[in-house]
Amino acid sequence: MTNHAEVLEQVRSAIAAESDATAAMEATVRVLQDRMPDYSWVGIYICYSNELVLGPFVGKPSPHTRIPLGRGICGAAATEKQTIIVDDVNADPRYLACSTETCSEIVVPIMSGPPANDVLGEIDVDSDRPAAFGEADRELLEHVAACLATRLRESSWPA
Ligand code: SME
Repeated sequence: MTNHAEVLEQVRSAIAAESDATAAMEATVRVLQDRMPDYSWVGIYICYSNELVLGPFVGKPSPHTRIPLGRGICGAAATEKQTIIVDDVNADPRYLACSTETCSEIVVPIMSGPPANDVLGEIDVDSDRPAAFGEADRELLEHVAACLATRLRESSWPA
């Protein structure tokens, strides 16, 4: 099994072991940051109407605890309803800085799934290494987002 596949299994187990949605999100960000050396900051934003609100995270506190849907890389991923990978955040005019050490970022929407196609939230990962994220990270985090979507739907989250 590749490292990414092992990490996905570990996240799945962690989510299954938690009975509430907040604990499942906390466990998710913890496992991802523990197991993936390039994942310097890992957080989950929850979508409330026109805003992304920061939920569980690991890493330095971010000034961006509320992001309007049109702003930042996070806002762009939510508006486009698709994963965005940025190899060099300082070259991207959309970027909202969290830490001066951040070099690259991946944002993966957590979609409600059919029949609705709503954004429930997002997984946001920052790295202190340039171009740290590739297709294996996209695949891992999109699977994690699907697991979280199931858990959030079961919990009627966000309330
Ligand atoms: N960089 C994000 C903001 C969130 S912080 O990285 C935690 C963005 O550009 O939307």
